[in-house]
Amino acid sequence: MKITILGATGSIGTSTIDVMLRHPDQFQAYALVAHRNVDLMRELVGKVHPELVVMTDETAYHSLKGTLPQHVRLEFGMDAAEAAAAHEDVDMVMAAMVGSAGLPATLAAVRAGKRVGLANKECLVTAGRIFMQAAKTSGAQVVPVDSEHAAVHQALAGHDRDSVTRIILTASGGPFRNRDPESLKSVTVQEAVAHPNWSMGAKISIDSATMMNKALELIEAKWLFDAKPEELSAIIHPQSIIHAMVEYRDGSVLAQLAMPDMRSPIVYAMQAEPRLESGIPWLELAGTHPLEFQAIDEARFPAMALVKEVLAGEDSLAIALNAANEVANQAFQDGKIGFMDIVSTVAKVLAQTDNQHVETLEEVWNLDADTRRITEENMVL
Ligand SMILES: NC(=O)c1ccc[n+]([C@@H]2O[C@H](COP(=O)([O-])OP(=O)(O)OC[C@H]3O[C@@H](n4cnc5c(N)ncnc54)[C@H](OP(=O)(O)O)[C@@H]3O)[C@@H](O)[C@H]2O)c1
Repeated sequence: MKITILGATGSIGTSTIDVMLRHPDQFQAYALVAHRNVDLMRELVGKVHPELVVMTDETAYHSLKGTLPQHVRLEFGMDAAEAAAAHEDVDMVMAAMVGSAGLPATLAAVRAGKRVGLANKECLVTAGRIFMQAAKTSGAQVVPVDSEHAAVHQALAGHDRDSVTRIILTASGGPFRNRDPESLKSVTVQEAVAHPNWSMGAKISIDSATMMNKALELIEAKWLFDAKPEELSAIIHPQSIIHAMVEYRDGSVLAQLAMPDMRSPIVYAMQAEPRLESGIPWLELAGTHPLEFQAIDEARFPAMALVKEVLAGEDSLAIALNAANEVANQAFQDGKIGFMDIVSTVAKVLAQTDNQHVETLEEVWNLDADTRRITEENMVL
């Protein structure tokens, strides 16, 4: 199977490469796509020997030029990333760029009918309708890589979708689950990215701390599983051993359990059957902590109240939630706003967003751009 990895230098990208190296007879790299991390890209090329490398940042492209082995082509830009995802030699695309920047190339893969391992949840949050319609038309298989959605995918497999009563995503609660909300005003970026269970990129780690990540995941689940808002919920499970549960009409609840390591959903997205060894530690239930659960307190995590409004509304609200969050999350990383300002900024922006149906990518980009501008104006600097 030939693979293009979008976001090869990221946390999901490098874990995908780890899985590929465990199964060299099954997976070969067609293209590695990344943004700026030239040193890591050079190292990854030496490991998986792709035919093509694409850097979407021009400076990075120029500094990589002339330093790769001769047989590796080097290209620049988002158009090249799209072509690398849609190329006829490619069987599978791992969509692991961060943020809505990942949408064009991932959509190109879907339109070309590829098997798509979808880590980039922002694709579905911003353009779920367009994305899922494109998959239906092309026959592309979209397999979630988010651990919660991979868990739901497995708990739904082989069962009657109409018998489902609830889809329940678990949330670790992040690093501030038990902190006094007052003390959160002064948390640092280092504290916010220090996730207790998962090792992830900075943006998603901060989203986990604000619980915005769970909000985005609920919207992602709506599109992936064609779920109504009342079928979707989330619960805190600090150990991150159960990744999601599906409840059926007869009261049965099917859960998927695994140690918190992204190589498990990654390998499942790459090949579900027969299952392949992923390299994650075995789950020894008798030796792990008790499995605990707790309802999510919306006063502590207001992102969960916001997402209810978004799930009940039209597409424009999800696009605005995502864009405002990307801007505010980055502003927090840059030291421009405090941790608690992230969600309050998003709330202010949502309150100014018209509730409207969105049909085209052009509308998505326009709304995304407008929201980013409004967010900048609404941030308390
Ligand atoms: N990490 C996890 O455990 C996890 C779990 C579930 C879902 N996800 C989702 O998977 C996606 C990737 O997450 P991650 O944690 O792997 O992120 P990450 O470690 O920050 O890596 C992001 C990747 O995207 C590339 N990138 C950044 N900005 C870009 C741009 N403007 N254009 C093109 N490429 C760009 C980066 O390239 P450079 O590094 O070369 O600049 C890097 O390869 C996110 O959507 C996240 O929500 C992640």
